[in-house]
Amino acid sequence: MTTLTILPSGKTYDVTAGITLLKALLDAGEHVAHKCDGKAECGSCHLFVQEGRKSLSKIQRLENEKLDTIVGVGSKSRLACQAVLGEDPVTVELLSFV
Ligand code: FES
Repeated sequence: MTTLTILPSGKTYDVTAGITLLKALLDAGEHVAHKCDGKAECGSCHLFVQEGRKSLSKIQRLENEKLDTIVGVGSKSRLACQAVLGEDPVTVELLSFV
């Protein structure tokens, strides 16, 4: 288990390590856009990781290629559907809502 904090709401959830940020967010009842259902094709699940970046899986080629096409991407950007949670707490800032 690890802790996932959501901004801007400040809500905190105990979540299972080893699942994607997207699954953790949806399981927690957060509304996050995910138009391609986690295939790294749409970019709608883009968010900023404000803390705990090193606890997440490394960015792979598919995610990197999609991030390159999204306006407003920064050094804290991840696709929620591609980032897998580790054991350390993570804080994310949601950018898109369904
Ligand atoms: S759900 Fe489409 S890129 Fe993540």
